[in-house]
Amino acid sequence: MVTDKINNLKTLMLFQNTLEFAQQLDAKDPLARFRTEFNHPTFHQKTVRYFTGNSLGLQPKRAVNYVNEVLQDWAKFGVEGHFLADKPWFSYHELLTEKAAKIVGAKPIEVVVTHSLTTNLHLLMVSFYRPSGKRTKILCEAKAFPSDQYALESQVKFHGLPADHLVEIAPRQGENLLRTEDILSKIEELGEELALVMMGGVNYYTGQLLDMPTITKVGHEVGAIVAFDLAHAAGNINLHLHDWGVDFAAWCGYKYLNSSPGGVSGMFVHERHAHNKDLPRFAGWWGYNKEKRFLMDPGFDPMPGAEGWQLSNAPVLSMAAHLASLEIFDEAGMENIGAKRDQMTAFLEFVIKDISERNKEKCTFELITPSNPHERGAQLSIQAKGQGKALFNALSDAGVVADWREPNVIRVAPAPLYNSYEDCYWLGVELEKAIQ
Ligand SMILES: Cc1ncc(COP(=O)(O)O)c(C=O)c1O
Repeated sequence: MVTDKINNLKTLMLFQNTLEFAQQLDAKDPLARFRTEFNHPTFHQKTVRYFTGNSLGLQPKRAVNYVNEVLQDWAKFGVEGHFLADKPWFSYHELLTEKAAKIVGAKPIEVVVTHSLTTNLHLLMVSFYRPSGKRTKILCEAKAFPSDQYALESQVKFHGLPADHLVEIAPRQGENLLRTEDILSKIEELGEELALVMMGGVNYYTGQLLDMPTITKVGHEVGAIVAFDLAHAAGNINLHLHDWGVDFAAWCGYKYLNSSPGGVSGMFVHERHAHNKDLPRFAGWWGYNKEKRFLMDPGFDPMPGAEGWQLSNAPVLSMAAHLASLEIFDEAGMENIGAKRDQMTAFLEFVIKDISERNKEKCTFELITPSNPHERGAQLSIQAKGQGKALFNALSDAGVVADWREPNVIRVAPAPLYNSYEDCYWLGVELEKAIQ
C-alpha cells in the first residue's frame, strides 16, 4: 500500500498542467485512435468535453451499421430472421458472450447478456438469497445506488423478514470512504447470520473501488454468498470474477460499455453453480435447454451456466449496439484500457488539484475519490462545498459534460476509449474560470 502511494506520488510529480504536456501525452497514447470510433456530442454547438461515460457511454460509430443490419434483416426476412439472418436472432446473444466474459474475467459459461440490470439482480437474488434458519441477513453499503436499495429491501420483504435484515455498512464518522477492515469485521460479526453480501464493486457516488477478492474470501469463510453490482466497474476495472470466486454479479451495458440508453445488461454466475438444476429460479423459455426449446414441453430444464437465467428472447436491436461496443473493447484490450485509465485519471486528478491549489482562497471543493489507483477506476468525485451546483452549472455552460449527484458531488469520468488528455486539460481551464 505504501509503495502504491509512493508510485502514485512519483507519477503526479511528473505531470504538468499545460496544453503542450497534455498534447504530448495524447501523442504517445496507444489507444488514441479509438477516439474517432465514437460520435462526440455537439449539442452545445462548441467542442463538448464529455466526462460522463460512467453514466451513459458515447455511441460507437459502428453501432449504426450493426443496428441497421438487424433492421434490414427484419425487413427482408420477417420472423425468419431468427434463423436466416446473417447473425441469426435465435443465437444473437451468443455473439456477445465471449467478449463480455473477457471484460469481467470470466469463463463463457459464466456469462450471459440479457434483460436490464435491476431485473438481473432480482433474478439472481431469487436464486442465491435463500434465507433459512439463522442465516437470513444481507450486508450492503449504506447509500447504495437507489435501485439497489429498493431491490434489496424488497427481497428482504419478499421473504417476509423485517427491514433490519438488510444491514448497511457506512464510512466512519467524518470520513467519505468505506474501510476494507470495517467491511471485513462486519462480515465476521454477522457470521452465521449472514446469507448474502451484495455491494457495488465501484461506488457510484465516491468512485471508490472495493477490495472484491478479499470481501469474497472473507464472506465465503463465514458461509455467505458474495455478489457485486458492477454497474460502475464493468468496462472500467480489470475484473477477475472467476478467479476471485464471486458467486454472482450483474452490470449494465450503457455506462463504460457504451451500449445505448437502457441497453442490455450482463450477468455472471460462477461456474460452481453452473450445473445446479435445483437452484430455485424465476424461469422463462429462453433459459430452457436450447436443443428442446421449441418442443414446448412442460417442466423447466435450465441451460447450464448463466444462460439458464434468461427469461425472454433476446432484444437484438439493443444487442446490436452492444456488439459494436464489445468489439472495440476486444480490439483495444482491457489491459491497455486499464493502463490508460490509471494514467489519465491521475493526470486529471493532478489538474484538478493544481487548480484548487492555485485558487486556495476562492476554492471550496475537494476530491473524495481515493488517490490510490488500486482503489478507484476512471471516476473522480469532486465534493463541492459552498459553491455547489453553481460550479457544476458553469462547467455545463462551458461545454464540459459532467454530472451532479445530490447532495453535493460533481462526478467526472475520463473514459480511456474516447477521452483525451487534452480533454482533461480543458476541463481544468473551465473549472478555473468557474471558480472565478
Ligand atoms: C449502481 C447501479 N445499480 C443499478 C442501476 C440501475 O440500472 P437499471 O436502470 O439498468 O436497472 C444503476 C443505474 O445507473 C446503477 O448505477
